[in-house]
Amino acid sequence: MRLRKGKTLRTQIGIVGAGPAGLLLSHLLHLQGIESVIVEARGRKYIEERIRAGVLEQGTVDMLVETGVGERLKREGLIHHGIELRFNRRGHRINMYELTGGKAITIYAQHEVVKDLVSARLAAGGQIFFEAGDVSVDGFNGTAPSIRFVTDGKPRELSCDFIAGCDGFHGICRPSIPSGVLTAFDRTYPFAWLGILAQAPPSSNELVYAYHERGFALLSMRSTEIGRLYLQVPPDEDINNWPDDRIWRELHLRFAADGDWKLTEGPILQKGITPMRSFVVEPMQYGRLYLAGDAAHIVPATGAKGLNLAAADVRLLAQAFADFYSSGSTHLLEQYSQRCLRRVWKAQRFSWWMTSMLHRFDTDSPFDQRRQVAELDYLTGSRAAMTSLAENYVGLPWD
Ligand code: APR
Ligand code: PHB
Repeated sequence: MRLRKGKTLRTQIGIVGAGPAGLLLSHLLHLQGIESVIVEARGRKYIEERIRAGVLEQGTVDMLVETGVGERLKREGLIHHGIELRFNRRGHRINMYELTGGKAITIYAQHEVVKDLVSARLAAGGQIFFEAGDVSVDGFNGTAPSIRFVTDGKPRELSCDFIAGCDGFHGICRPSIPSGVLTAFDRTYPFAWLGILAQAPPSSNELVYAYHERGFALLSMRSTEIGRLYLQVPPDEDINNWPDDRIWRELHLRFAADGDWKLTEGPILQKGITPMRSFVVEPMQYGRLYLAGDAAHIVPATGAKGLNLAAADVRLLAQAFADFYSSGSTHLLEQYSQRCLRRVWKAQRFSWWMTSMLHRFDTDSPFDQRRQVAELDYLTGSRAAMTSLAENYVGLPWD
């Protein structure tokens, strides 16, 4: 069915998706005096409450603070100088702060970043269409791109100079690029993560990544009162197979350590299962449509890189648009994909490496399992190897 032609709006950059990528891009553009409008399929409440990851690299924190959206992050974020790797019932701390010359990570939930960015955009008069239906992108192969959508039951058309596809892995922007243009690089892992949010003070001050013969487990947190914990489970696992007591039993087994360390339990507030996948498309651009964040690439959660990669992409994209509007040069826009992908692939490598080292694979032989433990043993005993992990974990330089 063809929609009746609705009211046409105009902006410089039309952004699809109000996740971290779309919101931060809109914010950075605003600081450069460039107008944008965001079209988001979901409601404000939904995006502000959606439970996602929560580790911010040093560079991401610095960018949020320097651009004026880091007030609450500075107040409520938990700064961590190290992480623990646990295997063979022993913990080994990696002192990232010392190994990287003073860099750290900050624990601050992705939906809190989203809340801060939404409120900054709205306070600055930014326009976000929430609950947009039938979103489609058009005209990006020429000079008149547009985003069509339905809001309050009325069809709308947003015409713009460029479109930023920030609509996540399941969005419509990437599939709107003609077939044959993009090359996809994909790896699925034979397991998923069962994640819980628990009303339980975290049992460690820092994150604990545990390798265990029963499978990987991760202890993370959202605050000094709320724990976030994960278990490796089969890829097609049904959450109904995991009543709360089974989850705690399994967590106790996988985190078991010599000494007096104890896992604190508490009511489970939320639980869900996340698949593990590595995915990249090249290039991240076609005509006047630029992809950023999960729309272009996803990483398995082990390296905690998803949100940080989205921030790195939109930093470059905002720079490229700013250069275009101030000088008329398309040079940085042409370089966008190549510059992003260099860093994206390094984060892909790191996420794949962490995932491969820490999980149990059904196909692994006893040889592979001994090799995994030897790798962890080497890593935690070598300053060079720990430095490599630390510099990737806190975030590689932007360029
Ligand atoms: N039209 C408009 N909006 C859409 C559409 C659509 N057809 N499809 C999806 N969206 C919205 C989603 O509702 C979501 O709010 O696009 C947004 C994409 O946000 P994210 O999935 O958070 O992706 P991104 O902003 O790239 O952030 C990357 O998210 O998945 C995590 O681990 C990932 O932390 C990383 C971060
Ligand atoms: C999280 O806190 O959600 C988290 C932390 C570290 C990871 C992945 C997720 O590697």
